[in-house]
Amino acid sequence: MTEPRTPAGQGCPVSTDAVKLAGISYQQTPSELYRSLRREHGAVAPVLLDADVPAWLVLGYSEVSYVTSHDELFARDSRRWNQWERIPPDWPLMPFVGYQPSVLFTEGDEHRRRASVITEALEGVDQFELGRDCHHIAEQLIAEFAGSGQAELMSGYAHALPMRAVVQVCGMPTSGDDTRQLVDDLRISLDAGEGDDPVAAYGRVGERLRQLVKDKRAAPGSDVTSRMILHPAGLTDEEIVQDLISVIAAAQQPTGNWIGNTLRLLLTDERFAVNVSGGRLSVGEALNEVLWLDTPTQNFIGRWAVRDTQLGGRHIRAGDCVVLGLAAANTDPQIWPEAHVGAENAAHLSFSNGEHRCPYPAPLLADVMARTAVETLLERLPDLVLAVEPEQLAWRPSIWMRGLAALPVEFTPVVR
Ligand code: HEM
Repeated sequence: MTEPRTPAGQGCPVSTDAVKLAGISYQQTPSELYRSLRREHGAVAPVLLDADVPAWLVLGYSEVSYVTSHDELFARDSRRWNQWERIPPDWPLMPFVGYQPSVLFTEGDEHRRRASVITEALEGVDQFELGRDCHHIAEQLIAEFAGSGQAELMSGYAHALPMRAVVQVCGMPTSGDDTRQLVDDLRISLDAGEGDDPVAAYGRVGERLRQLVKDKRAAPGSDVTSRMILHPAGLTDEEIVQDLISVIAAAQQPTGNWIGNTLRLLLTDERFAVNVSGGRLSVGEALNEVLWLDTPTQNFIGRWAVRDTQLGGRHIRAGDCVVLGLAAANTDPQIWPEAHVGAENAAHLSFSNGEHRCPYPAPLLADVMARTAVETLLERLPDLVLAVEPEQLAWRPSIWMRGLAALPVEFTPVVR
């Protein structure tokens, strides 16, 4: 592997016509932003992140595929970044770019070692059992609001279900004060609300997972944590804690938003009539269409150029930051010349591509969680409708993760 380096003081690597991504009005309609960036800049656009930190946004399907399959040119260790001296410690994107000794930032043989442990530990998850557990969690969550005839599904359902399911898959009980506290702390550290202290919450998550690893070393079970401990690669406890945090965090927001975006599509688009007997069949199509057109991980930061190179006609300098424009790539007119977007196949880049892509069994497990969440809700509350007009649904103000701020619904109250 080429050692990361930090060529300080090289100034702005991108052109003066760079487009500000922070605080832009396009957050409600990112597809317009991608179209206009593509029109003005082609497949690789110069952009400014928060605090006007420059980066490249890769919008082309073949360019994103190229970046993600050429680790020798575009690598994951963010310590290469040539902009570190401009980044304040409280920079909002720090949680995503600040180097951590986890699978996310490792490269080469070390990455293969860490990723193979995660892959094999996730491969041990029985999909039928996971489906049954998710069904059970879904029933519990629905029971909390079913009697009232109304609910806000993003916090009360879409995000809560994958969080509980992932915690359980990692070997913790779904109920109990300890688990409830962990689920709460994970939510706060990944998605802090007003008055939350994400740093303290993140600290408690680490402590709880350290304890979990200790307990599972003493008494292994049939769960992801125990399989990581017993794997012949011999990860240290701290490596396992780091990678467990990566697994849980990587699973949570995207799967929750996949569920939310799919429910929104089902409830707003008449092609998916959910209250007729054919509704069940449409769930798979809606899940797939969301991955093409409204994918949760819209943009992913990122990769860092190992050396000077060319990409989409741009000169990329060593240490430049490259953001993967996964949503833009999925709707690239080069792969959809007839403007027919939303294929039945799974050739989208929503799970990324290459060495660091979402590790093989994870998309399957996410599919089990999302499908079970959507199907169980529609079965239990068959006359579910939006409680507001579709145009009133607001997206969270983020260009990174596409998810609704709230999904208010109404239905006939179910009395148990
Ligand atoms: C069970 C649920 C999931 C688990 C356990 C999971 C796990 C992971 C892990 C461990 C990584 C890091 C891979 C590495 O750096 O080697 C990752 C990356 C990623 N995952 Fe997932 N994930 C899940 C669901 C999802 C969903 C639903 C999406 C989006 C639809 C998604 C999209 C991604 C993307 C875009 C990356 C970044 C890959 C890159 O750096 O190129 N994941 N995931």
